[in-house]
Amino acid sequence: MNEHTTPASVSQRADELEEHMMHELERIVTKSTLHYLAEGKVTMDAGAPILAANPGKHFLMGADPRLPPMPEKPTLVDYFRCRFASHAHLLQSATHALKAGHNEKVILACLLHDIGVVSFIRCDHGYWGAQMIAPYVDEEVSWAVRTHQALRFFPDEAAGYAYPDMYLKLFGDDYKPEPYIVAEYERARNHKWYMTSRLICVNDIYSFDPNAKVNLDDFVDIIGRNFRQPEEGLGLDDSPSAHMWRTMMWPNRFL
Ligand SMILES: [Fe+2]
Ligand SMILES: [Fe+2]
Repeated sequence: MNEHTTPASVSQRADELEEHMMHELERIVTKSTLHYLAEGKVTMDAGAPILAANPGKHFLMGADPRLPPMPEKPTLVDYFRCRFASHAHLLQSATHALKAGHNEKVILACLLHDIGVVSFIRCDHGYWGAQMIAPYVDEEVSWAVRTHQALRFFPDEAAGYAYPDMYLKLFGDDYKPEPYIVAEYERARNHKWYMTSRLICVNDIYSFDPNAKVNLDDFVDIIGRNFRQPEEGLGLDDSPSAHMWRTMMWPNRFL
């Protein structure tokens, strides 16, 4: 067998397919450094050689045609439908809070608590999610989303929250939260909104039922009353986190 007949590895074939797709598109789509870091590579796409390999073409500076199109003035519900990779966990968690009779701030916090994960990034998802929503919700809601990042690692039996068995399976029994998480927990324990964040954890762990019937429509009114939709469209406004929503809308803009 010579080098020409060696079968391409799965990742080689995936790379070739991706390269092929990149050339098929009208505009050149590149990846951000973060995408490469997530694949274990410290590298970035350099503009000049890619342009040279694609004569007459330009880099993508707007919507990626491979993704569901977003309306001109997107709302949070549009992001749910067009950009969030999964709804079930969020909807089940919020439904659980709704049925338990909690107030709308708690229900909204449960509905949004993991949007960092489903839309953006896993690491420090509570912090990312809180930052994304902070300009548009009551401070108590974004504080609770931020702090659930830490609280979920610490049981509060009196509040009905034991350390989740699932975390033992996911992280092993030797996982110890880092010092910044412990410090966040210590600060949160005596905070006036502690229970709002704790209730995210309480409603979180029971939220993985594949048979539960949940629907985003059930929460549209609560979103309408508690999430300030910017007139220009979410991400097209000038809030301190608008760029995060825009990045989700146009994740492959060259700059
Ligand atoms: Fe979470
Ligand atoms: Fe969760």
